[in-house]
Amino acid sequence: MTNVLTLENIVKTFPLQRKVFTAVDDVSLSIKEGTVYGLVGESGSGKSTLARCAMQLMRPTSGQAIFEGHDLGKLGPKALRTIRSRMGIVLQNPVASLNPRMSIGASVAEPLRAHTALKGHALQAKIDNLLDEVGLGAEHTHRLPHQLSGGQCQRVGIARALATSPRLLILDEPTSALDVSVQAQILNLLQDLQQQKGLTYLLISHDLDVVRYLSDEVAVMKTGKIVESGAAERIFTDPQHDYTRRLLEAAPGHGRPELADSHTLPTLTTQGND
Ligand SMILES: Nc1ncnc2c1ncn2[C@@H]1O[C@H](COP(=O)(O)OP(=O)(O)O)[C@@H](O)[C@H]1O
Ligand SMILES: [Mg+2]
Repeated sequence: MTNVLTLENIVKTFPLQRKVFTAVDDVSLSIKEGTVYGLVGESGSGKSTLARCAMQLMRPTSGQAIFEGHDLGKLGPKALRTIRSRMGIVLQNPVASLNPRMSIGASVAEPLRAHTALKGHALQAKIDNLLDEVGLGAEHTHRLPHQLSGGQCQRVGIARALATSPRLLILDEPTSALDVSVQAQILNLLQDLQQQKGLTYLLISHDLDVVRYLSDEVAVMKTGKIVESGAAERIFTDPQHDYTRRLLEAAPGHGRPELADSHTLPTLTTQGND
């Protein structure tokens, strides 16, 4: 299977007073086409920094990010912009990620205007279609973010990320800011979209249940390093590293039956009434 994204020896340091702080410390991973790669680790372990380096939203101090065979660090701004339209990102805080003064339709139109030639009726039809794909009716087009729930705002965030028909979505704590009941609905939506469109995901979460629910492969990150990686089922049933075991023991999953076992996951509606 082809690798959609490969990270090779990514290091990211930040100057910290007189010292240098290493947020990402020599991380390598490969994500295969059409699969979900889960990246789990405590807050501050370097997950978001790695995601930013992967998209070149910040340049890594050293190492390579290779997307669809292109070494992103070697591309100029124009080529990078084009290729980045094939990578979408969904962030943690859905309400803050949207412009409060921009209607939902205008927010979804933004990436379409930037990367496609769509105008007028064709543009509106594409907006309606994207909203429909994330379970939101066309009546949401003229609403403002504050008129929507957190879950609905995250659906808009997903619609925006999908607007340019990306191959890879980077989901950075996509459900962490949402109520538990809404988390399951958003995860179901993400799973449906991934399967229907054959998308590739890099799913980042500090929450093991979230990663377990969707991932084919999992990497466990601790203080900037990957301490363990492999098939998701193996990581969760037979963890090899002490840190993974401790994370599993500390996981609140036992109190969250709606996420703990995908076989018992209720067939939740994917309608956006959350
Ligand atoms: N721009 C920055 N300048 C300095 N330190 C940063 C910066 N961005 C992140 N860090 C530090 O890097 C570490 C990893 O942060 P982050 O990647 O956000 O972790 P995670 O997403 O796993 O919670 C943290 O200690 C954070 O304070
Ligand atoms: Mg983070």
